[in-house]
Amino acid sequence: MRKPIIAGNWKMNMTPAQGAQLIEQIKPLVADAKCDVVVCVPFVDIPAAAQALAGSNIGLGAQNLHFEPKGAYTGEISADMLKELGVEYVIIGHSERRGYFAETDETVNKKVQAALDAGFTPIVCVGESLAQREAGGWEAFVAGQAKAALEGLCEKCVAKVVIAYEPIWAIGTGKTASDEQANEAIGIIRAAVKEMFGDAAQEMRIQYGGSMNAKNCQGLMAQDQIDGGLIGGAALKAPDFATIVAAASATVK
Ligand code: PGA
Repeated sequence: MRKPIIAGNWKMNMTPAQGAQLIEQIKPLVADAKCDVVVCVPFVDIPAAAQALAGSNIGLGAQNLHFEPKGAYTGEISADMLKELGVEYVIIGHSERRGYFAETDETVNKKVQAALDAGFTPIVCVGESLAQREAGGWEAFVAGQAKAALEGLCEKCVAKVVIAYEPIWAIGTGKTASDEQANEAIGIIRAAVKEMFGDAAQEMRIQYGGSMNAKNCQGLMAQDQIDGGLIGGAALKAPDFATIVAAASATVK
């Protein structure tokens, strides 16, 4: 039985003080969660978030990292820097990073390695564009992204990775994939991971992301392949985020 994981992706929202306030609102609402709960905050919010999260059942995540341990990489952040601040999770290869900041399957793979080496749980994003979905062939594209991200990992490491299936056409658009579409895509990703790593695919948690909210979370969470959600907009509202956490908790026997 895979433990569901609900992770908030705050993107470039919330100052450190606003973030700490949001965490204070979220904490009591998710204190009894039976799933993993994580907030992935902007880099500069991390110290204040770590302080606000201390002693809670909510994990701390970043939204990116650089794959090199240190060096002349102006503007970048290393795994060690994040580790010292108490980070446990890191989002890697979000479609916004791939699309706006030229991240490739290759850099995503290097970042996954670096995150695992640091002891983090990587949350690796994959997903097709609307044009790809309409043109056909999205299944092979998404499977290929997942395989490229996991290239060269050991079987034991793979089970620790979380994949987030986030169709680009559903992100921030209010247009969610249907329960069946999301379940189908995640099943395809799991089959691709199985081809590479065998039974580790059954242990790997694969989330859905893309306009998941307090209204549609129950239907999505009821699907057998969906192991949680990566939540953008709805993660910025404590009651909505808590409703999604409750829906995931309700699937835990
Ligand atoms: P959204 O974002 O929930 O606002 O669509 C999800 C994501 O991009 O991780």
